[in-house]
Amino acid sequence: MALTPYKIHKIRRQLSHGTTAASACTLNAVLKFDGIESPHCVYNEEVAVRLGQTLHIPVAAGVLTTTGDGLAFASLHIEAPGLALPNLIPSRYAKVAKQYPREVAALTVFDILIGNFDRSGNLKASLATPHIAIFCGFDHSHALLNIEEDPLESIARLANNELIVEYHPFYGLLGKDHLSEALDHFALCDESYVKACCRFGKTFRAVSTDLQENLAKALAKRLKKLPAIIAPHRAKMVLPS
Ligand SMILES: Nc1ncnc2c1ncn2[C@@H]1O[C@H](COP(=O)(O)OP(=O)(O)OP(=O)(O)O)[C@@H](O)[C@H]1O
Ligand SMILES: [Mg+2]
Repeated sequence: MALTPYKIHKIRRQLSHGTTAASACTLNAVLKFDGIESPHCVYNEEVAVRLGQTLHIPVAAGVLTTTGDGLAFASLHIEAPGLALPNLIPSRYAKVAKQYPREVAALTVFDILIGNFDRSGNLKASLATPHIAIFCGFDHSHALLNIEEDPLESIARLANNELIVEYHPFYGLLGKDHLSEALDHFALCDESYVKACCRFGKTFRAVSTDLQENLAKALAKRLKKLPAIIAPHRAKMVLPS
């Protein structure tokens, strides 16, 4: 899996003279809040990062932080020294799929798991510099609890075996074997890990513990049903042979 780079903004003072030369430093981040169009954005973003890391999916790391309005999500800014990394545009999708076939298949299956219908544009990749491999997704506010306006309806859609992601930047570009490999990889994940990613043990902004539990159960079920959910749509996902 390609490493995701996060460029240092500033190195400040050294904090100790130990073997690691521990120093204070700052990194850039994109701060995201709950809003009218994305009422569970902070919860979604945090759960997506936890799930992505559990399943080894290339998504930007992020952390929870607190502002005057309570919890917010800081998505660590993907940046590489000396390399411009604009959001990926559609004319590059085929090239990216060819250069990063495993990562692309894994991210696509991940998006189907979480019902993310907004991957287009929310991607960074290094294409012109072959020795620097970067492929990474970010922005998971239009998935999980925000598929429908009502979070319970979003959970019901995740639970009822529908594809949800009708369009995706990498549909038609996945290698058959890479898609199968990604599905095999997801099948190895125990559902208890997926459930743990959804739970915080207390109300999280507008997301009650009951809602967290409902999502946990729906996602665990969806994880096991992924091959069956994808099978009827496989032809539109893989490269034509
Ligand atoms: N981790 C990141 N690294 C680099 N750039 C980022 C990262 N997160 C967001 N950005 C940049 O900030 C822009 C806006 O962020 P993001 O895509 O998360 O929200 P949005 O699309 O504006 O809103 P919404 O979350 O409602 O879809 C992105 O298009 C991208 O250019
Ligand atoms: Mg976006």
